[in-house]
Amino acid sequence: MRILVINGPNLNLLGVREPEIYGTGDYNALIKYIEDVCREENVEVECYQSNHEGDIVDRIQQALGNKDGIVINPAAYTHTSIAIMDALKAVAIPAVEVHLTNVEKREDFRQISYAGMACVHTYMGLGFEGYKEAVLFLKRYLKD
Ligand code: DQA
Repeated sequence: MRILVINGPNLNLLGVREPEIYGTGDYNALIKYIEDVCREENVEVECYQSNHEGDIVDRIQQALGNKDGIVINPAAYTHTSIAIMDALKAVAIPAVEVHLTNVEKREDFRQISYAGMACVHTYMGLGFEGYKEAVLFLKRYLKD
């Protein structure tokens, strides 16, 4: 199983960025965590981060034909990007949405998730562990 993990804007600043909300683990620690999980689960993983909406759309398109699943934390683009939602629908690769925080308990403007409308499942509020749950979900989902 080959998966692509996409992290959107400002997630490269994890650890520095509002640690009281997002925690103290930095982006490199997140990537190591995801890679360790995938190694244990025998999943081939590629991690990608971008602060640019169009670059994320391009990366989703490039996954066509060579990835079996996508784990995506679109960060702020979650709540604004019809382009990312459309790209996920266009490639039709099963995608799982992840948020470090519980966005349902946060500001009104975070209550809509366009990306989530193109995803088979969502994990939120679990910190790094949400990415592990997403990988395990995709394993089960792709087996069925
Ligand atoms: C986030 C939640 C988003 O609302 C926010 O814009 C982010 C991170 C999360 O992981 O909790 O950048 O996706």
